[in-house]
Amino acid sequence: MLARMKPQNSVQTLRFLRRGEAVTVEGVAPTRTLLEVLRDDLHLTATKEGCGEGDCGACTVVLGEVVKGQLEYKAINSCIRLAHSVDGMAVWTAEDISAPTLGADASATVQLHPCQEAMVQCHGSQCGFCTPGFVMSLFGMYQNTKGGQGITREQAQVDLSGNLCRCTGYRPILDAAQQMATLPLPPGCAVDEAATVAALKALKPVAAADGSYLRPRSLEALLKARATHPGAQLVAGCTDVGLWITKQHRRFDRVIDVTGARELRRVETYPHHIAIGAAVNLSEAFAALVAQRPQLKTFGQRFAGLPVRNSGTLGGNVANGSPIGDSMPLLIALGASVVLMRWKKTKAGGEVAHRELRLEDLYTGYRTNVMRPDEVLAWIKVPRPVPDEQMRVYKISKRFDDDISAVCLAVNLSIEDGVVRCASIGAGGVAATPARARQTEAALLGQPWNEDTVMNAMDTLRQEFRPISDMRASAAYRQTVLGNLLRRFWLESQG
Ligand code: FES
Ligand code: FES
Repeated sequence: MLARMKPQNSVQTLRFLRRGEAVTVEGVAPTRTLLEVLRDDLHLTATKEGCGEGDCGACTVVLGEVVKGQLEYKAINSCIRLAHSVDGMAVWTAEDISAPTLGADASATVQLHPCQEAMVQCHGSQCGFCTPGFVMSLFGMYQNTKGGQGITREQAQVDLSGNLCRCTGYRPILDAAQQMATLPLPPGCAVDEAATVAALKALKPVAAADGSYLRPRSLEALLKARATHPGAQLVAGCTDVGLWITKQHRRFDRVIDVTGARELRRVETYPHHIAIGAAVNLSEAFAALVAQRPQLKTFGQRFAGLPVRNSGTLGGNVANGSPIGDSMPLLIALGASVVLMRWKKTKAGGEVAHRELRLEDLYTGYRTNVMRPDEVLAWIKVPRPVPDEQMRVYKISKRFDDDISAVCLAVNLSIEDGVVRCASIGAGGVAATPARARQTEAALLGQPWNEDTVMNAMDTLRQEFRPISDMRASAAYRQTVLGNLLRRFWLESQG
């Protein structure tokens, strides 16, 4: 099957794999979302739109990409994912996982995939609006666990954290997640991975017809594109810029997507630090951080929901600079730095230029930073743990999963012989930018690690910031909780 659709105001062609066949959609504007292409252009209306901002999971689809020769599956939110970003990938929607067949009376029917059948058997659906999204998150789990093998309750909760249901309650859906593995997989529902890998390799990305959506394949090509188009909108996973499009109705004539640059899709390990490329998604970035510091596991799982973590990148979160972005307080406390790169013209043609700065020095104000128009945030360097390090990060939000912080505090101390030798504290939700609590650090440095020091530092921390009141919390609450979190750190350090 080769589906060819041509919506109005068309500009650029998109091609992806669906049910093993190439789908070509002509004339897709750079800010058109994958959900719009699925529902409006291809009339695949099983994929639903709820919130349109990555919060509810009704629009969940699964992407497949070949990584190191293997097919990797990722559940993502199609409502905020730009359509061109899936060019050259495989896409599964809720319409693509069951198998058409003939019933006993020769009438057409379908055989359900185990993730659908488990939802039926466990009564995991009532009004059904959320169900296609849940089913696709289950399908992603199924494919990533060799048919649902060994899925624990805890893992199911984490993997379904980006899907909201208003009717059923979550117990039957979690039951379904654990029941999938016990159900037979109808032959027509099985993904032929070898054939899919071969088809993906044969599916060459379509060259941009007019350059309105650029996804360069190398770092050098990315930097050259940025130098040529400094006014273009730079995107990575688009989990924030997607909302500018769906909620603020903003449109961009040209988009540059950093996620195609192969060098930036890596996490590199060095003796004293790890370097996380700007195209590494949040799931992989947090896995790398947790490998260094296992105590960050829960915090990583509380960063949005899995479909957002599968699309969004650490580099995007940092470059975006939202004062309530959760990664920056953590990275500030860890002493992270960012590497900014650009293409510099020389007599010989050009070369890569770069500079490195501490993360907290990147920001100049509310969502503003020191980056030049032709620069790209390429790497985030995170120091590895030192022997005396005591590190914790706390997120205060109204909901455990998939919520925005009212306050986030990350504390990183080195305590030697009962004295604070190093102090690094990052705070979020309390200023116009993610901030370093320098005065509090000064109140701790060189002091004995005891309750008096902590009480004094708590007062300093409460005075150091002037948070605002908003729908998430009052200013007074934020100030109080900041100090309380430092006290919590102290109590935890006492065992
Ligand atoms: Fe709610 Fe996409 S429609 S996450
Ligand atoms: Fe109605 Fe989930 S079944 S929202």
